[in-house]
Amino acid sequence: MVGPKRRTSLVFAVLMLSTTRSFIASAFSNVQNAGFLGRGGGQIPGRVFRTAEQRRGLVRTPSRAPPTKELLVTSPDEDTTVSTYNMEDIVNVCKRRGFVFQSSEIYNGFNGFYDYGPLGVELKNNIKQRWWRDMVHSRDDMVGLDSSIIASPRVWEASGHVAGFVDPMVDCRVSKLRYRADQLYFTKVELQEDGEVIGYIALLDSGDLHGEARKLAEKLKKKAGKEGTIKFPLDIKDMTKATVAEMALIPSPATGEPGSLTPPRAFNLMFQTSVGALADASSTAFLRPETAQGIFTNFKNVQSTGRVKVPFGIAQIGKAFRNEITPRNFIFRSREFEQMEIEYFIPPEEEVWPDFYNKWIETAWQWLTSIGMREDLMGRDVHLKGDLAHYAKACTDIVFRFPFGQVELQGIAARGDYDLTQHQTSSGKSMEYFDEANKRRYVPHVIEPSIGVDRLFLALICSAYAEDEIEGEKRVVLKFHPSMAPIKVGVFPLVKNKPEIMEKARAIYDQLKRRYNVFWDVSGAIGRRYRRMDEAGTPFCITVDFDTLEDDSVTVRERDSTRQTRMKVDDLLAFFDKEING
Ligand code: GAP
Repeated sequence: MVGPKRRTSLVFAVLMLSTTRSFIASAFSNVQNAGFLGRGGGQIPGRVFRTAEQRRGLVRTPSRAPPTKELLVTSPDEDTTVSTYNMEDIVNVCKRRGFVFQSSEIYNGFNGFYDYGPLGVELKNNIKQRWWRDMVHSRDDMVGLDSSIIASPRVWEASGHVAGFVDPMVDCRVSKLRYRADQLYFTKVELQEDGEVIGYIALLDSGDLHGEARKLAEKLKKKAGKEGTIKFPLDIKDMTKATVAEMALIPSPATGEPGSLTPPRAFNLMFQTSVGALADASSTAFLRPETAQGIFTNFKNVQSTGRVKVPFGIAQIGKAFRNEITPRNFIFRSREFEQMEIEYFIPPEEEVWPDFYNKWIETAWQWLTSIGMREDLMGRDVHLKGDLAHYAKACTDIVFRFPFGQVELQGIAARGDYDLTQHQTSSGKSMEYFDEANKRRYVPHVIEPSIGVDRLFLALICSAYAEDEIEGEKRVVLKFHPSMAPIKVGVFPLVKNKPEIMEKARAIYDQLKRRYNVFWDVSGAIGRRYRRMDEAGTPFCITVDFDTLEDDSVTVRERDSTRQTRMKVDDLLAFFDKEING
């Protein structure tokens, strides 16, 4: 990989009247307030900003100290070069090659929503099909489900989402921009010598919170025309910790002026809609913010009809919707996304859950590496006891080091019997399982591995992205695992003016496309065709040439090594089957 190491810097402060626009935005048409334009700030490489145990709303705890390294219990190798690319490169290739488009782009976009193009939909389908194959079909203890996106509002009351699925939000009354209070930081700037307070700075997390705050404090001092030394370290807090008096003094990141930020207030992230002809309070329903509740509410249905015995799991893939205050970092945090969730039901004894929990962490990790995730960029963030919801026994996030920072990719939580018990109490219907072998009834406990398809999609592209030079020419190559690659094989007739070659190539193409997504390309020099396939992440290309007509062999070119091998046409299917399906 080549190119300088760069990082997105998204810093706002009292002295910065013009916000730092993320260059990521340039890949898409100009979208006012698009999440990835930088309103939400970046994450800190080497640190984790946790959202995981905020999951399920009840524990979407707003107040959190500015992220520190200590949060990361097990981290990816700190020495690993994260990447020589940045989010701009990723967004660019996604747009250029038709992986991801901004939703409603011709209308200047729609913040927090994305469309997946021809290659994107293939990659997404590959992720989901492989997950289903490995988590459901290959296991005897798993079954699937597809529950409705809109369910009775009582589901969300029982689960705690109506009351508690909230993020703390502050508004800037002047710019009308909104910020997540726990992601907007402030600090008082005072002089060391006599404690004189110069003012306050406000900033979003840019990857070096303390360094940026230091710079801004110095600028503030200069602007105020003060002499002396600033008192360090700065006491940086997030906006949920601001007192009423401080609120009046903290500048808005958008305007640089104090006094326009509102106090933090709870903002429920569930999208509301109305069901039926009348739109009143009685018709209010919600788009699901997670697929998990559909699994819990169907526990008895699935258990009794699926003839499954505890321990067993129910898996579901489906859309989830969250009205995120600051959708950001491209598809990392969006308002509409897909989840792949498992609720794995286990007996209630205290000594039982740790083993299942640890096995699921291991299973999740192994699966991610098996589909081509870069293990050197992955880590584990074990949540501290004090950060867990009262009912939760443990939670571990598998984190990934994206170009904008290291953040949660997948959460694995031991949630006890909280959800089933809540629904049992609320609905009045028993959620008990009858253990025939031991002749006893109990509400099972649960281990919940949950991952976002879109977030994994982004992590896979980041894992695959590389730039190198072939014969003096720079190429972008997406080194997808063959099973993930949107196009598996490119088929090229060497020349298009020789009917026999065209016919032979077409026959190979027709045969392969019955099994795989393959690509036919007759235009341009072979080298150019290879480059196009490299950037799409196609692992193999076949060239049909004059020799093919003589000996029924073709050239198979491998994407990563660029190695070219001569192979009999009859051997192609077996070769690709081994390479792609393992
Ligand atoms: N049922 C548990 C649950 O929903 P979560 O941590 O809130 O837990 C699970 O979400 C996973 O869903 C996350 O690890 C992440 O991969 C994905 N996810 C959550 N919010 C997302 C968003 N706004 N955009 C994209 N993916 C998201």
